[in-house]
Amino acid sequence: MRINSRIVTIGLSALISACVTTQDSIVGYPEGFRTWQHVKTMLIQPGHPLEEPFGGIHHVYANPKAISGMDSGEYESGSTFVFDLLNYTEDSQTITEGARKRIDMMLYDSSRYAASGGWGFATYMDENKTLPIAQDVQRACFQCHQSAEPTSFVFSKLRD
Ligand code: HEC
Repeated sequence: MRINSRIVTIGLSALISACVTTQDSIVGYPEGFRTWQHVKTMLIQPGHPLEEPFGGIHHVYANPKAISGMDSGEYESGSTFVFDLLNYTEDSQTITEGARKRIDMMLYDSSRYAASGGWGFATYMDENKTLPIAQDVQRACFQCHQSAEPTSFVFSKLRD
């Protein structure tokens, strides 16, 4: 999808205001997500306003509950999306995946994450699976995802 400038502006100010997360807002690492359904892929290149922090190739994955939610528009507890961001190399007119930069994830639990549309957000850097980066998820991630309210704060769409 096209990332418009309004989203970019909201997002950048949200990321800049990132601060400390509280213990009970922590979303655990989505072990095994590489076996989930692939939703889509996108390359964000140097010079794009979201190059920092989202530059690279990302693949979006959804667990079975999240796939049902994309179909029905209603997400049940446990629905999870992963945004798997990788570095890349260019050589002889090819672009190849490189090392993982980070994963960003969203876990649906309407009671636990009521303040952010029911979604808990988290980022794990590189291959680190134990400690999400410290930030205020409500602001840093949700302020931008808020613009996807008509689709329950999820931007990605399933293609055939
Ligand atoms: C500047 C706006 C912006 C910010 C800030 C942002 N996202 Fe997103 N996010 C997007 C867009 C746009 C997509 C869809 C990407 C695509 O189409 O491939 C997306 C996709 C995702 C997805 C896949 C599900 C979906 O909604 O498509 C996850 C998971 C995700 N983001 C997590 C996060 C987390 C965690 C953070 C905070 C660290 C974050 N995002 C911050 C704009 C943003």
